[in-house]
Amino acid sequence: MKINTTTLAKNFIKENVSNGDIVIDATMGRGNDTLFLSQLVGKDGFVYAFDIQQEAIDDTKTKLIQNNSYNNVSLILDGHENMDKYIKDNNVSCVVFNFGYLPKANHNICTKPDSSILAIQKSLQILKKKGVISLCVYQGGDTGFEEKEAIFNFLKDLDYNKYTVIVSEFFNRPNYPPIHIKIIKEI
Ligand SMILES: C[S@@+](CC[C@H](N)C(=O)[O-])C[C@H]1O[C@@H](n2cnc3c(N)ncnc32)[C@H](O)[C@@H]1O
Repeated sequence: MKINTTTLAKNFIKENVSNGDIVIDATMGRGNDTLFLSQLVGKDGFVYAFDIQQEAIDDTKTKLIQNNSYNNVSLILDGHENMDKYIKDNNVSCVVFNFGYLPKANHNICTKPDSSILAIQKSLQILKKKGVISLCVYQGGDTGFEEKEAIFNFLKDLDYNKYTVIVSEFFNRPNYPPIHIKIIKEI
């Protein structure tokens, strides 16, 4: 199978998350990333996972229980733009965003540029030094280009002394494939 954005994201997350870390899944969906994070941080770590749909919470809870991974996770039915209401520490190692809509659900309930940017801003605040953000950004298709453009415009102006931003695109693939972005908090 060819490499895809999910593989790029998982490799980056794995390189930067250790046992005992505090991490955030900002877009829980059907819980694949939440389970991955829960297994990486282990029983001494903790995962905060956000979604605005009850269906996402229910599916993720089932997946975590089936995999004996429910004890170190808090599933929060709220937008990621409100993450600071729930997370008071500034020692988060990793925040994972997988934008867009819940697969096999209503495509109109999806991430939106303004709340996505606010959530990225709040993530940058609560990351520890050398903490990272992984973003899978979609373009074209149902979600259009608006969110991708807003995120790119925001990231392009981030202070390069404080944050490293790396964009990975599948340059020769057709149909506007998803893009993976790595952010590293340097200081
Ligand atoms: C592509 S899915 C995420 C896939 C997921 N990471 C997985 O492993 O299955 C995007 C999710 O973002 C959620 N979402 C949309 N707006 C949100 C917001 N403001 N805060 C948190 N989640 C949001 C959607 O409900 C949807 O479930």
